[in-house]
Amino acid sequence: MGQLQGKIALITGAGRGQGLAAAKRFAAEGARVAVNDLDTASVQAAVDTIRAAGGEALATVGDVSNAADVQRTLAEVTGHWGGLDILYNNAGIGYSATKRFGVAMSDIVSCTEEDWRRILDINLGGVFLFCKYGIPLLIKRGGGVIINTASIAALRGAADAHAYTATKGGVVALTRAIAVTYGAKGIRANTICPGVIDTEMIHDQLIARDDIRKILVHNTPLRRAGTAEDIADVAVFLASDASRFITGEEIIVDGGISQRV
Ligand SMILES: NC(=O)c1ccc[n+]([C@@H]2O[C@H](COP(=O)([O-])OP(=O)(O)OC[C@H]3O[C@@H](n4cnc5c(N)ncnc54)[C@H](O)[C@@H]3O)[C@@H](O)[C@H]2O)c1
Repeated sequence: MGQLQGKIALITGAGRGQGLAAAKRFAAEGARVAVNDLDTASVQAAVDTIRAAGGEALATVGDVSNAADVQRTLAEVTGHWGGLDILYNNAGIGYSATKRFGVAMSDIVSCTEEDWRRILDINLGGVFLFCKYGIPLLIKRGGGVIINTASIAALRGAADAHAYTATKGGVVALTRAIAVTYGAKGIRANTICPGVIDTEMIHDQLIARDDIRKILVHNTPLRRAGTAEDIADVAVFLASDASRFITGEEIIVDGGISQRV
């Protein structure tokens, strides 16, 4: 029997990258997985992949920063499967958003007010909305699990992406508060803080550039960039009963890069 047998999970930003890897792993562990992302094509492709492997999946297209989309998405999941057990707030925008959405990952002086608001709306606002409307659903089931994705940027300073950094610090703080407030209702809430993970979010800007990749790998004690699967395995642990006495924590998954002096 899988570690998440029969559980109903919703993963945001699961059309690609870490969210997609987690959706596949959750389904392989027996969960029924609602796949959320912005566009129908990536969501449908993820659902098809999971189903082809024998898993159960549901397509839920929507923008995590849009309250109506969030409420509709949750209604679709509960309407289809009757409830929600695991809420994994993984969606976010980072370096690749400059090319994809025209949102720059700059330092605070260069950051436009418009970019600041957009990054906050998605990376922190999306977690707010899904927790606001999702927690009552978890309580209805007698408890559940929340996993929120932050970053090592929440814990260490970087020279750019200041709005991104602020959102991830907010995710860590909010998750801790949720854990304290809703622990008595049977809800565990933890944050994953990924390090340098080779997904489309950073690939072109960091990994594909020889000079930058060499420095990153050299500074990482485990001497490689992370993979989406490195994160997905930790997410399975946090979603499962194996982590039943862990809540309010930040789990750093970064090959040790943030431990360097
Ligand atoms: N890749 C890294 O090195 C790294 C490091 C630390 C933290 N993270 C965080 O990990 C999470 C997953 O990122 P990834 O590496 O898989 O990147 P990714 O860009 O491959 O995946 C992010 C997914 O989120 C989706 N998304 C973006 N905005 C959305 C919105 N408004 N509504 C719904 N979906 C939306 C995208 O379409 C995409 O499929 C993010 O929160 C990111 O900030 C990534």
